Amino acid sequence: MNDNNSVTKKICEILGNTSRKACVRSFGCQLNVSDGEKIKGLLSDMGCDFTDDETEADIIILNTCAVRESAEDRIFGILGSMKKLKELKPSLIIGVSGCMTAQSHAAEKIRKSYPHVSFVMGTSAISSLPKLLLDCIQGTKFASDISEYDDFSATVRQVRESSFKASVPIMFGCNNFCTYCIVPYVRGRERSRQPDDIINEVRELVQNGYKEIMLLGQNVNSYGSDLGGKMSFPQLLRELDAIDGDFIIRFMSSHPKDATTELIDAIFECGKVAKHLHLPLQSGSSSVLERMNRRYTAEKYLETVDCIRQRDPDFSLTTDIIVGFPNETDGEFRATLDIMKRVEYDNIYSFIYSKRSGTKAAEMEDMTSEEEKSCRMRELLAVQREISSEHYKRFIGRTMRVLVDDVSKKREGFLTGKSSEFIIVEFEGEPSLIGSFAQVKITEAMNWAVRGELIK
Ligand code: SAH
Ligand code: SF4
Ligand code: F3S
Repeated sequence: MNDNNSVTKKICEILGNTSRKACVRSFGCQLNVSDGEKIKGLLSDMGCDFTDDETEADIIILNTCAVRESAEDRIFGILGSMKKLKELKPSLIIGVSGCMTAQSHAAEKIRKSYPHVSFVMGTSAISSLPKLLLDCIQGTKFASDISEYDDFSATVRQVRESSFKASVPIMFGCNNFCTYCIVPYVRGRERSRQPDDIINEVRELVQNGYKEIMLLGQNVNSYGSDLGGKMSFPQLLRELDAIDGDFIIRFMSSHPKDATTELIDAIFECGKVAKHLHLPLQSGSSSVLERMNRRYTAEKYLETVDCIRQRDPDFSLTTDIIVGFPNETDGEFRATLDIMKRVEYDNIYSFIYSKRSGTKAAEMEDMTSEEEKSCRMRELLAVQREISSEHYKRFIGRTMRVLVDDVSKKREGFLTGKSSEFIIVEFEGEPSLIGSFAQVKITEAMNWAVRGELIK
């Protein structure tokens, strides 16, 4: 840390009063976006300003995701197009951070095929950013640090994108090794942050006017399992709920195998905790779930859903689904559709299975054609569209408390926000309401959002 401070100081000296503009682009999940905010925190300490326009940047950092092949292809495409920028401005520093750098084949490809990239920084090496930049400024052609310095990054100040919504990582890594997933290989094992650090951070955010706190982890409900019984996730929710102030607590993602009754009790009993649960199903077929190493069956998943819906029949659930896992049969796919119809999710995030080298599923035989997988995906999306538009009708006539996010890009004069249930709500109103809670009476349901009228 001290060493880092002295490197940061040295960079400030070298840069003098010349202003440097940095462009940080994060891809993938919210944890990665949160890392991007830490990268910005370090850059800001080095005197950098920020821009979204790559052509005016002196430093560009691509904070990458490796969860699917399409995510990687996109990054390689962007990296390719940056060659021109570097030719136009030879002093430009281009860095690559995030999950792609933790895969040796991707890191090697970046080094070999994209010589205009100045440095590569691993997911646990954010703290080395000042040193990497100093090396680049002093003439190193290609600097790299993919070591594991670990949780130093938890203490890095974030330059947050929003002034009213804050994400707070509560744990890093994942122990679950779902057979399709690269995350445990690129993010390491589960490490929980100390409860006091999280509680103090949330208290400070709330004091600074933040209205939404999003707790982040690959599997938040196993929070604390490495803390020797000091605190569990439901206990943490209760501690945060007790903080004074008008704010909402969200969290993501929860693994169904760890969705205990203690967690469900905490959601219902804590007034500030959103009435919404993102519970990734992945597949509605128990045999596929077993091949995925998800460690729950379709029946067990439905028991959890029933337990929630017995307490509130309208409770909002969203999920992730993978279509076309190796050798998924038509019957197994239909089992997923059946659960979707039974649960009536408010929203689903669906992905066609993508082979990730190094994972167990990459070794599995897969006879299902890509064409068949695309066909299943289209069917699944059509089924969900139907479910959402029907299901959203339950909100008509109700008054929802909405955290106002922005002006609507679809309708002039309208604002958009999210309700406690994580439903997009549109209504007519003044932009001055952005960042505050509004009461909206719902009049209309669509398949992606609801519309209503502001209650003055
Ligand atoms: N930790 C979270 C999710 C992390 S990745 C959880 O367990 O819920 C986000 C989503 O990407 C996953 O839920 C899964 O649906 C999808 N995903 C992960 N690996 C994938 C792969 N190889 N192919 C397609 N989708 C994948
Ligand atoms: Fe990946 Fe499974 Fe861990 Fe989620 S729980 S990050 S899907 S291995
Ligand atoms: Fe992607 Fe890494 Fe998140 S692989 S989904 S950015 S943890």
